[in-house]
Amino acid sequence: ASTVERDAGGVVNVGGISVVDLAAEFGTPIYVVDETDFRERLAAFKSAFFDRFGQGSVYYAGKAFLCKAVARWVDESGVNLDVCTGGELAVALAVGMPGERLAFHGNNKSEVELAAALDAGVGRIVLDSFDEIGRLTVLARQHGVRPKVLIRTKVGVEAHTHEYIATAHEDQKFGLSLAEASMAADQIIAEGVLDLAGLHSHIGSQIFDTTAFEVAAKRVLGLHHRIAATNSVTLPELGLGGGFGMAYTTQDDPQSPERLADGLAKIVEHECAAYGIDVPHISVEPGRAICGPTTFTLYTAGTIKPVELDAGQLRCYVSVDGGMSDNMRTALYNASYSATLASRVSDAAPVLARIVGKHCESGDIVVRDEFLPGDVAPGDLLAVPGTGAYCRSMASNYNHVPRPAVIAVADGAARVIVRGETVDDLLRLDVG
Ligand code: LLP
Repeated sequence: ASTVERDAGGVVNVGGISVVDLAAEFGTPIYVVDETDFRERLAAFKSAFFDRFGQGSVYYAGKAFLCKAVARWVDESGVNLDVCTGGELAVALAVGMPGERLAFHGNNKSEVELAAALDAGVGRIVLDSFDEIGRLTVLARQHGVRPKVLIRTKVGVEAHTHEYIATAHEDQKFGLSLAEASMAADQIIAEGVLDLAGLHSHIGSQIFDTTAFEVAAKRVLGLHHRIAATNSVTLPELGLGGGFGMAYTTQDDPQSPERLADGLAKIVEHECAAYGIDVPHISVEPGRAICGPTTFTLYTAGTIKPVELDAGQLRCYVSVDGGMSDNMRTALYNASYSATLASRVSDAAPVLARIVGKHCESGDIVVRDEFLPGDVAPGDLLAVPGTGAYCRSMASNYNHVPRPAVIAVADGAARVIVRGETVDDLLRLDVG
């Protein structure tokens, strides 16, 4: 469980350390990771899924947030790791994660990346196109290896928060249609260079119910059955992707890993019984549900500007010392976050506030609508929770703003796990 709480004086604490002390030691903005919570979430997914689907059935999706410390936590937890670029692969290898426990995704892996995956002995390469099958086949011959591969399918299901659509065709770049995947599987089996372990599907992100997985599993298992039967082979595995939702607002109601695992087990068992096939080894790739809730961004409030809206109402624009460069999700997806005054309590009447950054555009919004105490003032610390997924990993240097440090806190100790950039770091890249 989260170790974030307010102390007797009303100051937000994490792992027993106050945000006032964190800001004094490390400055702001910073991402603050509750390491205990992160490790517990890894352990919870591991126990729920390993119990039902066997060893190795969970891959943490590194794209949500990855650095060497996180890769070590993943390694130590026994959970596997999903990487989707040579860069993410390098992080895993830098901490000595065994290649066998990695899955390599991506729709446009280069020859260099594929060769690096073969050199590392990556456990599963998830193939995304006929081009890639060709590329990997050549490389596997050259390297004298027979890598295990999955084929990423487009099952015609796209799921988002609270809703999904199932259509015959998905107009997007990932995966092969069921018809194409079927041909690809026959080709791989006939050539015998790559070891086809099974099929894969990933249907979206921030999903709260398992209905969409049910439609996806039905479609992908139909193909699984067809490939195995006509080629007289066993396909031992099925990847169901990630996308399990987390709570950004009080309306979001994520399922526990146990309920997710139970729900998926029922779906897969039911579909396999209908097709009369053995249940394959299921794996999932949660990213956001593990790292998202473990982290908050700590900012210092700067300029505060009341703006008059229609009907004389006021909106208080509270500028912080970061913005869309450390969290682009609000600008990019209209994502919902909340903010809280973290360095003190106040009984001032709440005012309608908008937390904005320091970048040169009006879409630079971190939290669109929030009520903050009316006496919020420059120098106050604001915490924005739920920023562990796709915030640091999608951070930019827009306006030459250095990317913030990531601080891990556990049991009363805080340490830097990703150093904050300096302007010198940025200038170092300029040549001439
Ligand atoms: N597996 C595959 C093949 C994926 O493409 C993804 C996410 C995941 C697993 C992990 O999904 P998660 O459990 O974290 O939802 N930048 C967007 C999210 C993009 C997700 C891309 N793929 C955001 O900030 O919401």
